[in-house]
Amino acid sequence: MNRANLEVPFNRPDVDEADIARVVATLRSGWITTGPVVREFETALKRYLAVSRVVCLNSATAGMELVLRALGIGPGDEVITTVYTYAATANVVRHSGARLVLVDTAPGSFLIDPQAAAAALTPRTKALMPVDFAGLPADCTHLRAAADACRADFVPSNAFQEATGRPVILLDAAHAFGSLYAGERVARDADFSVYSFHAVKNLTTAEGGAVAWRGLTGEGSEVELEAEFERRLRLLALHGQSKDALAKMSAGSWEYDIEISGYKHNMTDMQAALAIGQLERYAAQLARRREICRRYEEGLPEPVFVHPFVGVGEDLPSFHIYPLRLRGFDETRRNALIASLAARGIAANVHFKPLPLFTAFRDEFDIKNYPNAWETYSSEVTLPLYPALTDEQVEHVIRSLRTIVGLD
Ligand SMILES: Cc1ncc(COP(=O)(O)O)c(C=O)c1O
Repeated sequence: MNRANLEVPFNRPDVDEADIARVVATLRSGWITTGPVVREFETALKRYLAVSRVVCLNSATAGMELVLRALGIGPGDEVITTVYTYAATANVVRHSGARLVLVDTAPGSFLIDPQAAAAALTPRTKALMPVDFAGLPADCTHLRAAADACRADFVPSNAFQEATGRPVILLDAAHAFGSLYAGERVARDADFSVYSFHAVKNLTTAEGGAVAWRGLTGEGSEVELEAEFERRLRLLALHGQSKDALAKMSAGSWEYDIEISGYKHNMTDMQAALAIGQLERYAAQLARRREICRRYEEGLPEPVFVHPFVGVGEDLPSFHIYPLRLRGFDETRRNALIASLAARGIAANVHFKPLPLFTAFRDEFDIKNYPNAWETYSSEVTLPLYPALTDEQVEHVIRSLRTIVGLD
């Protein structure tokens, strides 16, 4: 086989000619920023996720940031998340002014340790932010029960916080678009789920994200308060402007107010246009991702290889990335393995470097306090996983790994 055919990039977005035509149609329509196509995408997302509220934004980061802002979480408050995440989850907490509380992963897991999270709750805790790493469902049920147990000590600072009456579960579902939680596409026990449509995500708008939720107090929450919360998110996403740009453009409708000093986090119609067709064929894309995972599981045997999606039960992950672990490997051996894969044309990666290993977090958090995350990180390598991977490329990855670890 031609060596060039065996190059395996780490990721490739799934964009077809129909997607390109939709973007071009938007470019030709005379309206390219937030407008009817974003609304159409939001409606399609609500249907797909089976939730009543979806707000599209320019990233998952913006989604998490604005939910914290809209809930009025800030200085004097505390927010708990995991060390095993991308910096976005922690940065938005720091931006809000709340104290960032990082907890370890459960032993042998990529996910937040629910017991450690529960132990970190204080009367100042306003949010728990689990992360559905790789699309694997974090234990929101346990976290929700722990948050519920805080009701007596919870001190709300506005009507939204009064409505929840406890710390909220703000799920970083950046990886988890399409994951199933006990048969549902949005975890029941998460108050807010925030998705990413970044270029490497399963479904992409190049840059983009969405906040999805059912209600501040679950199903049947007070409708006006719900509508007010959504309006606040939208205001925060557009400088607090009372009318969006499209509404402001219609004849005779120029006047508007700036109600609050908001941010600039809106999604454009061009971005939404890229994703509408992807959503229509998403089931097939998930099936292909699952098939590739099955091949990795079959070709790379235990006990050397530890696979991420074995035994997840009825909660199906979105198969966003393939975080393989190598039993007994440390950081040095893992890095050497990535170099050997690179020499064979295979781009692998590491997800994630725990936050305390980064300059921005090192002074405040010590990796020694997060032994599980350290252990997981040291032996982890992320394999290529995307629908456009060919069977030959998958076989090449499997053969290469088997050779490198001395199985063949
Ligand atoms: C776990 C996690 N959370 C949040 C984000 C941020 O997503 P976005 O780039 O859409 O802001 C990422 C991005 O990769 C991520 O991996």
